[in-house]
Amino acid sequence: MSDSARLRAAVVGSMNTDLVVRCDVLPIPGETVLGSDVERLPGGKGANQAAALARLGVATAMVSCVGRDEMGEWLLATLARHGADTSLVQRSERPTGTAFITVDAAGENEIVVAPGANTDLDLAQVDLDPFDVVLAQMEVSADTVEELARRTSSLILNVAPARPVSASTLRRCAVVIANELEARSLDMRELAHCVVTMGSRGAAHYSFGEIVAEAKPPVVDVIDTVGAGDVFCAAYASRYLQHDTPLEVLRFAVTAGSLATRAIGAQGSLPTTEEVQQWLALAS
Ligand code: RIB
Repeated sequence: MSDSARLRAAVVGSMNTDLVVRCDVLPIPGETVLGSDVERLPGGKGANQAAALARLGVATAMVSCVGRDEMGEWLLATLARHGADTSLVQRSERPTGTAFITVDAAGENEIVVAPGANTDLDLAQVDLDPFDVVLAQMEVSADTVEELARRTSSLILNVAPARPVSASTLRRCAVVIANELEARSLDMRELAHCVVTMGSRGAAHYSFGEIVAEAKPPVVDVIDTVGAGDVFCAAYASRYLQHDTPLEVLRFAVTAGSLATRAIGAQGSLPTTEEVQQWLALAS
């Protein structure tokens, strides 16, 4: 059992069915390209992060909302198989969230999400007190994110996908995680802890606009980058819980995110803590 197992995490976010098609080159607007057969895979930024946290050995509860449909049942079952607690997942009359994903030959992707039931999550029904950290993303309603920031002092907010969020909510977060595109709409000078991910170039931790730590990931054979950012966030939260230094947290997270690109699907290659530590040992 990992040392993370005694601490509890809640992931507040989406659960989606990912419909994935592979093609040589991503289409430009107005273009049609032919692709592979469609694959149906479990996804959603929330579920991916919950599955990754559970795989890393953290006691993890998913707080989400799915439809009363076959897809919702299937997503709950797959997430439970990864070891996450799904008892706090709510049901709605709207369809379970679906993501339409195109992946090119280099592993890059484009995603359109139909959030459906995800936006019906009612946070008033959820007690957040038992959790040592709350990890959330932006595929739930804007009100849910604002309420979360008011109710917990240990919120790690992954501002993906980029959507309007108030400056006061961002300031209340323990940590804000953004990719380079999402970071453009942030005023990092206002944020005590803001982590910016840069894909294969690694990640940097900023405090009030100044870099305090940077890390680069190992080089791996990339098959599919979908969900790599989610594994980064989960790995970040798992070491944040252990009070590692900013540099230790970043090194662990970029390594975990990189290892997640070695198979198809957002939950297809989730590393364990031991696996990440072995790669870190090789790099040092
Ligand atoms: O971050 C990857 C995820 O984004 C996919 O699993 C998809 O469901 C979308 O939410």
